[in-house]
Amino acid sequence: MIKMRAVQVGSAKGPLQLVERETPEPGPGEVRIAVQATGICHSDVFTKEGLWPGIQYPRVPGHEIAGMIDAVGTGVEGWKVRDRVGVGWHGGHCGHCDSCRRGDFITCQVAPQIPGITFDGGYQEYMIAPAVALARIPDGLSPVEAGPLMCAGVTTYNSLRNSGARPSDLVAVLGIGGLGHLGIQFAAKMGFHTIAIARGKNKEPLARELGAHRYIDSQTQDPAQELTKLGGAKMILATVTSGKAMNAVLGGLGIDGKLIVLGAADEPLQVPATLLISGRRAVAGWPAGSSIDSQDTLAFSALNGVRPMTEVFPLERATEAYDRMMSGKARFRVVLTTGK
Ligand SMILES: NC(=O)c1ccc[n+]([C@@H]2O[C@H](COP(=O)([O-])OP(=O)(O)OC[C@H]3O[C@@H](n4cnc5c(N)ncnc54)[C@H](OP(=O)(O)O)[C@@H]3O)[C@@H](O)[C@H]2O)c1
Ligand SMILES: [Zn+2]
Repeated sequence: MIKMRAVQVGSAKGPLQLVERETPEPGPGEVRIAVQATGICHSDVFTKEGLWPGIQYPRVPGHEIAGMIDAVGTGVEGWKVRDRVGVGWHGGHCGHCDSCRRGDFITCQVAPQIPGITFDGGYQEYMIAPAVALARIPDGLSPVEAGPLMCAGVTTYNSLRNSGARPSDLVAVLGIGGLGHLGIQFAAKMGFHTIAIARGKNKEPLARELGAHRYIDSQTQDPAQELTKLGGAKMILATVTSGKAMNAVLGGLGIDGKLIVLGAADEPLQVPATLLISGRRAVAGWPAGSSIDSQDTLAFSALNGVRPMTEVFPLERATEAYDRMMSGKARFRVVLTTGK
């Protein structure tokens, strides 16, 4: 059996380990992907720190995968060797629960599969993925560009397009990290009046380059007051990891405004009931998207010039790359490449 390189987490809170493994074979309904690039999402912390229930270790993290099909298992239709594909957080579903029967695969509660969590993900040279999890990568997007679109991209794109906000509405993106920097681009390209909110002045020029019409520095300005001065936000896309930062923008929601929670906040939100009642305001969450949502994200990005800003590291420097993401200094998505 041919060996390959993989980066695994041996046990919860353990270090990332570069190991040699047998190259896996696809089973029925699965394909093997030669992984070319994998984005490092903040949600990889669930695997690294053991924060997701039931993870079996050792586990290979990574759910922002771009590569090429290398082998096809039995019973797979519509996919062939050399097809360029991506896999995101949505790695498969039961197919028979009420959500799945409605075609809402992302809220499957019976057997949701997640690469890097329930099966080995993209921090390796070859991975196995269920065919239902595949999204086609269009020409014009490189693997390094496509990888981050498979989670950071689809999460922001899909939440924005399903939010009910319409072109010209005031849409704020809170936090400019992996998710936020794509959220700003999508919001601007979808025609929203796009406001970027982040800590400090230093992200302002980049936020404007990404398409933000205005920038609010949450360290020197009160974001809720600033949004209210602009008429109140129809939607705030909260991509930060901080509950306090989300609380600080709630007061900037306009009438019928909605805070969409994307970031796994470190503490519960504090939402005044009167704020919700008096302006029919709402707080909602949004999980990434299914494989066809990812494919839509890739197609929209290729057509409209949305691209992640990336810092690329080879697979063997995964520890350094992961630490770079955690430091908050990356501009804006760290991506691992395998050389394939
Ligand atoms: N809903 C979903 O389906 C989904 C999908 C993917 C990821 N996520 C979650 O989304 C969050 C962001 O992921 P990411 O990959 O974009 O992470 P990231 O690149 O590490 O960015 C983290 C963001 O959090 C902000 N932040 C960190 N500490 C903060 C603090 N103390 N106060 C205010 N802001 C703070 C940063 O804000 P500044 O820009 O101000 O520095 C930055 O924008 C994570 O919680 C991740 O687990 C959710
Ligand atoms: Zn993710």
